[in-house]
Amino acid sequence: MKIVENIGFIGGGRMAEALIKGIIQAGLVAAEQICVVDPVAERCSFLHEQYGVNASGRNDFVLKAEIIILAVKPQIMGTVLADIKDKVDKGHLFISIAAGITLSFLEKGLAGTDSRVVRVMPNTPALVLAGASGLSPGKDATAPDMDIAKGIFDAVGQSVVTAETYLDAVTGLSGSGPAYVFSFIEALIDAGLKVGLARNDAETLALQTVYGSVKLAMENKEHPATLRAMVTSPGGTTIAALHKMEKAGFQGIIMDAVEAATIRSRELGNLL
Ligand SMILES: NC(=O)c1ccc[n+]([C@@H]2O[C@H](COP(=O)([O-])OP(=O)(O)OC[C@H]3O[C@@H](n4cnc5c(N)ncnc54)[C@H](OP(=O)(O)O)[C@@H]3O)[C@@H](O)[C@H]2O)c1
Repeated sequence: MKIVENIGFIGGGRMAEALIKGIIQAGLVAAEQICVVDPVAERCSFLHEQYGVNASGRNDFVLKAEIIILAVKPQIMGTVLADIKDKVDKGHLFISIAAGITLSFLEKGLAGTDSRVVRVMPNTPALVLAGASGLSPGKDATAPDMDIAKGIFDAVGQSVVTAETYLDAVTGLSGSGPAYVFSFIEALIDAGLKVGLARNDAETLALQTVYGSVKLAMENKEHPATLRAMVTSPGGTTIAALHKMEKAGFQGIIMDAVEAATIRSRELGNLL
């Protein structure tokens, strides 16, 4: 999907950079149609030189764009909204990626500006264009707005559209999810050492096993239980390992972990 409008970013940090890379690579807009505001001059120069985007330290510069991605830390979102509110002079589409900042906070902060809002929870694999994001429409966001927002986040991975009430669950599953997977990979590497493999070999085998299994599941489209059954022969090695994992409650632990992160996300959202 090609986007005809200009895209602006308030905040030119790591997430913004990942999105800029994906947007340009997917051809959603040309680099010249992207403008970024960041207080650090060196960061602006870097983004301009690396990606060819326009970058400046002034907020009004970015307000020329029809679509504006709010990519600042959650704790300064209130200040940013207060700063731009009086300068918003057309019906912008604002897309916020700030963790825990609700649609109602954004809509209140932009009240009277005739703009629409979408809230997104991305994750860090977006940095390598393999992110997973959940998107929720604000009360005035239209179907074309959601198509644009989804197009942007699909350019850095895959995304789902869901009601805002589920965004804490998205945070618990995919937002915090990379940490669970890294922890699993770390455990696989240590397990390799435990059974006598060299560290380099254990790292290569563990990473490629996780990567290959995900690729197989995504390409094959079978349920993971079916794929697991395919490598579990009667009386074999895999069932011996799975027996140990299930005795320790592996699947229950993962469910508890995702639930704990979801509850914590809800608690943190209430504190903001
Ligand atoms: N990284 C993730 O995995 C992830 C996942 C989900 C959601 N998010 C959300 O994405 C947002 C950005 O995260 P990030 O990791 O990209 O953070 P980051 O690298 O710190 O980027 C934020 C950028 O905004 C700049 N900034 C500060 N005040 C500003 C202002 N008034 N106007 C314009 N720019 C300003 C910061 O500059 P200074 O460095 O000078 O302050 C920094 O360059 C956060 O709200 C976070 O909750 C991130």
